Amino acid sequence: MHTDPYVAPPLDVSSVIHGGIHHPVLRSYQDQGRSLNKSMLMYPIFISDDPDAEQVISSLPGQKRWGINKLEGFLGPLVSKGLKSVILFGVPEKMIKDERGSAADDPNTPVILALKHLSALFPHLFLAVDVCLCEYTSHGHCGIQSSLPHPAHSNAPSLDADASAQRIADVAVAYAKAGAHCVAPSDMMDGRIRAIKMGLIHSGYGNRCTLMSYAAKFASGLYGPFREAAGSTPMFGDRKCYQLPPNGRGIARRAVRRDISEGADIIMVKPALPYLDVISDAQEIAKDLPIACYQVSGEYAMIYAGAEKGIYDLKQMAFETTESMVRAGAGIILSYFTPEFLDWLEQ
Ligand code: PBG
Ligand code: ZN
Repeated sequence: MHTDPYVAPPLDVSSVIHGGIHHPVLRSYQDQGRSLNKSMLMYPIFISDDPDAEQVISSLPGQKRWGINKLEGFLGPLVSKGLKSVILFGVPEKMIKDERGSAADDPNTPVILALKHLSALFPHLFLAVDVCLCEYTSHGHCGIQSSLPHPAHSNAPSLDADASAQRIADVAVAYAKAGAHCVAPSDMMDGRIRAIKMGLIHSGYGNRCTLMSYAAKFASGLYGPFREAAGSTPMFGDRKCYQLPPNGRGIARRAVRRDISEGADIIMVKPALPYLDVISDAQEIAKDLPIACYQVSGEYAMIYAGAEKGIYDLKQMAFETTESMVRAGAGIILSYFTPEFLDWLEQ
């Protein structure tokens, strides 16, 4: 049987959209004013308690643990290229770890020394600092252990939320006093945002230090390289009773609402790429707050590893992944790619 070849009818006007993207300038208009720029980037930096350290971190290509004597040489060129902000993580290698993480706010702890040093070296650099106990506790958990057993199973850590929040608030205040413009608690204990905010207010820092909450932080498989870098792997159990389950979109929304009501100034989602829906939820719930996301160590290492295998181009994927975060609603991106972006965004 003979059939006529199919002839498509003329396109309707609403079908023709390529007129909007045929020129690079037109393509740039499609971001509706939301594209990655240098001032969105916050660079995570590991500070060792060996003042002369410059140690390669094998699981995080290109990243090092830095001693405070090396910070000027390391960060100076980046600041000249437009680096606006850093977030510091302490790596106590020689200091003694104990049950309550006493080293976290010891006057000689690496982040306190680094905050003072960086404030003097780079007065315009925005200084954020991660606040947590896991780098400093003997057990490697993010809070203080409770004497009560955990109901779920014997290997799960049982943490005392009140004691942890109070201890973490004291640490945050010590960092504010050392010059932090922003304290960022990553421990995930219930009530710690309120405890920190009250601590800042009562010590006179309520209006001088911003509080960025790791509000929706998931129990992820993507933190491995970080834990190696920071020496913060738990000695037993996991972090599932204080970090959110990956399927928990609802509890993430509750955590965002809770942290806004407790006084957070910035809301963070972490990791970023597998949780773009949560970034978008956070932006909708926290309309009046800046939204941050953390492209974590495993995301960075994964992008690097794929590029090394020849699966894709490193720069293209670094942009595509972070632009997806901006598109989802993030205005602040914590990324180990920051030094590369400072060059790439110049080109
Ligand atoms: C510690 C902390 C972690 C990260 C930031 N702060 C790891 C964890 O919760 O085990 C992860 C950052 C990264 O992977 O780059 N509270
Ligand atoms: Zn921790």
